[in-house]
Amino acid sequence: MTSEPPETPPTPLLDVELVTLFPEMFDSFLRASLLGRAIGGGIVRVNRTSPRDFARGRHRQVDDSPYGGGPGMILRPEPLAAAIETAEAARGRAYRVLLSPTGRLFDQTSAVALAGRGRLMLICGRYEGVDERIADTFAEDIVSIGDYVLAGGEMAAAVIIEAVARLVPGVLGCETSTADESFSAGRLEYPQWTRPPTFRGLAVPEVLLSGNHAQVETWRRLESLRRTETRRPDLLLRHPLTKDEQALQDGGKTKRRKKPR
Ligand code: ADE
Repeated sequence: MTSEPPETPPTPLLDVELVTLFPEMFDSFLRASLLGRAIGGGIVRVNRTSPRDFARGRHRQVDDSPYGGGPGMILRPEPLAAAIETAEAARGRAYRVLLSPTGRLFDQTSAVALAGRGRLMLICGRYEGVDERIADTFAEDIVSIGDYVLAGGEMAAAVIIEAVARLVPGVLGCETSTADESFSAGRLEYPQWTRPPTFRGLAVPEVLLSGNHAQVETWRRLESLRRTETRRPDLLLRHPLTKDEQALQDGGKTKRRKKPR
């Protein structure tokens, strides 16, 4: 008689440690959609540790006023350090990222780099800031998701988890779709349509119904360039037109001149 080997949970391809004073903020986010399925299937694992559990005193106070004066409260270093060290003692060393509006800007290139780390710790700040010794002692990277100030790092951590998790094989269920989408090569994604062929008087561009794959491909590349020029000229400055794209545009212009619409 053969017996089934005991079930061992699969090793996650992405293993995230969240250090947050508000672990409950992630409840529905981590359950929903493709990420929820990836967590259910063991491809992605997310553990949450709250510095509040390591705060001392009857009030378990995690913050205090800033030295030198000024508005707001600063997160004390001890509960944060204890949360970080406890999570790593339980599950191993992680690449530690502190979320802060003072960090370097997160983009698709950072998402790809973080996906390659495998095991990540996202440390969420709150209030007016975090004692600088946490950055000095623990952070390997300090990351901002944009030039605006949130009430804390939790939403930023959620953004990073989603951007990184969808790059992990098996999470999207459609691996090619990350290769040709917005930002992958400094270009915005081309526009897309689905059924019905006409909606409120707006018809789907004919070329997409033609079945001519080469024409569709050329049209999409041109649309992608046009959209990038109009909406994100900064991307074109950082990633100038390639020779191929220049030729494509020159060809496109000639064609459009011959057959304007
Ligand atoms: N915490 C507050 N604002 C933030 C931002 N823009 N990015 C990352 N963490 C933050």
